Amino acid sequence: MANKTILVTGGAGYIGSHACVELLEAGFQVVVVDNLVNSKAESLARVEKITGKSLVFKHLDIRDKAALQQVFADYPISAVIHFAGLKAVGESCQQPLNYYHNNVYGTLVLTEVMQAANVKQLIFSSSATVYGADACNPYTEDMPLGAINPYGRSKAMVEDILRDLSEADRLNQSTNPWKIALLRYFNPIGAHSSGLIGEDPNGIPNNLLPYVSQVAIGKLAQLSVFGDDYPTPDGTGIRDYIHVVDLVKGHIKAIDTLAGEVFAQGGCKAYNLGTGQGYSVLDIVNAFERVTGRTINYKIAPRRAGDLAECFANPALALEELGWQVEKGLDDMVADTWHWQSNNPNGYEA
Ligand code: NAD
Ligand code: UFG
Repeated sequence: MANKTILVTGGAGYIGSHACVELLEAGFQVVVVDNLVNSKAESLARVEKITGKSLVFKHLDIRDKAALQQVFADYPISAVIHFAGLKAVGESCQQPLNYYHNNVYGTLVLTEVMQAANVKQLIFSSSATVYGADACNPYTEDMPLGAINPYGRSKAMVEDILRDLSEADRLNQSTNPWKIALLRYFNPIGAHSSGLIGEDPNGIPNNLLPYVSQVAIGKLAQLSVFGDDYPTPDGTGIRDYIHVVDLVKGHIKAIDTLAGEVFAQGGCKAYNLGTGQGYSVLDIVNAFERVTGRTINYKIAPRRAGDLAECFANPALALEELGWQVEKGLDDMVADTWHWQSNNPNGYEA
């Protein structure tokens, strides 16, 4: 494993920067490509500070084929972790072409360049959002798919493309077949325990934890709890929150798994990365207050369009085939979110 070079697309972002820390600490060489559309290069400087190791950063858009080809010519890349993409559900409804161009076309360019370079091991950031309304909790990987917004559909389309790519190699009896892990993330939260890297959303956050932590620090006045009339024990929505460091450790396990027995004949397989445990919005508010000693000012507001009552994973397949399971609980997630937010009230801005 040591000295293998991993290309990390979107490595300056929230999850990507945490992945870079784990990769460097595990002994990999890391090349990051990122166009910084939703991140700052400062995150990578902090990754180097945490690890005491350096990485290569190329400021480019993955849709720039020539630039990407040059990266494969310059570095001995053995596998790619593909985080680069746009991820805001609401924005995707307003700008669908931008989302399909970035997430779907971007992945087409990446896989074309990988195929030409004969680098065929890929870990893709998929999402629990690909599951349809007919899936039931806890979600298993074989449940029906049916994303309900352009962001989710862009992830589902990429999953289809990657399955087709792998199937073509099987039909053609390729001697170097594609080996692809589709990692379906549930709700990543938290931050590295150093407090040096974390989630740094632009503008007013859409997601629960960044919103709660900005209320706690006084940047936002009040949290709106979207609905208290769901068929859940306290009436608020339930999600499977997972510590971002546990999540990225699943990617390191996936690199090993792609190189091993499970993928000996090639293939494209989906794995849920969640804890298997659901928490409600009010559970999160209560945990935040307990762990930080701050009061979270909140009000009950109408349901948010498109939200499900409940969504949590069955992560058994990831345990069985990737050898991965979570190590951190809700208090770690909340404490690390708060450590990052209170040390960096303006994110990566000086
Ligand atoms: P992020 O926005 O922090 O990171 C994505 C990174 O990709 C950013 O640094 C951005 O600048 C970069 N990028 C975007 N388009 C690019 C392009 N065309 N070329 C080069 N770089 C580009 O998001 P994140 O939370 O770290 O998410 C990483 C991946 O995980 C995304 O694909 C996202 O859809 C997926 N995901 C995230 C969540 C979540 O809740 N955070 C849940 C499920 C799946
Ligand atoms: N919520 C509030 N108030 C807020 C924000 C959220 O009550 O201000 C509630 C939501 O209604 C939901 C829960 O908190 O019940 C979690 O909401 P998030 O927006 O944090 O997360 P989602 O589950 O809606 O979606 C996230 C990502 C998606 C991804 C999905 C599954 O935003 O991109 O997790 O991985 F697809």
